[in-house]
Amino acid sequence: MRQNMITNRWLWLTVALGLALLTAYLSSHAPMPAVPVQVTAPAHLSQAATQGQKLFAANCQKCHGPSAAGSERGPPLVHRYYEPDHHADISFQRAVEFGVKAHHWQFGDMPPIPGVSKDQVALVVEYVRELQRANGIQ
Ligand code: HEC
Repeated sequence: MRQNMITNRWLWLTVALGLALLTAYLSSHAPMPAVPVQVTAPAHLSQAATQGQKLFAANCQKCHGPSAAGSERGPPLVHRYYEPDHHADISFQRAVEFGVKAHHWQFGDMPPIPGVSKDQVALVVEYVRELQRANGIQ
């Protein structure tokens, strides 16, 4: 009987340790926070960002979600991954021109988005940056 209890204790310890290791492993390899994230719309958008918002709605929103909060098809762009220091404006141009191989998330690849000019992407970037700043990402 006593022998049994000791064995049991070791068994539970092993299971608990295993679960802790598994959780640590999964959370380091699957950066999937709840999507969509909470995005506070800025009280005021610049003129450029207002144009960007329309372009975003037409070309990006079906994956990146309303207010770039993410959807089941793509990540939020209002996220610290995409702050200017980590993803400068040029990475938006490249994403639209060449597409993106899935690397930060598990939504799959982003295809190139034809028919959106560099100037139009710049307006979308302005919109996303203003959303980011209104949500403490800069
Ligand atoms: C068909 C779905 C889809 C559409 C439409 C789409 N995206 Fe994406 N986008 C994705 C996915 C998925 C990723 C994430 C890839 C990863 O890192 O795992 C992504 C990533 C990005 C990134 C990050 C690039 C990087 O270097 O990591 C930027 C910037 C971006 N998208 C901008 C845009 C803009 C701007 C538009 C509209 C002009 C747009 N996307 C339209 C699915 C989409």
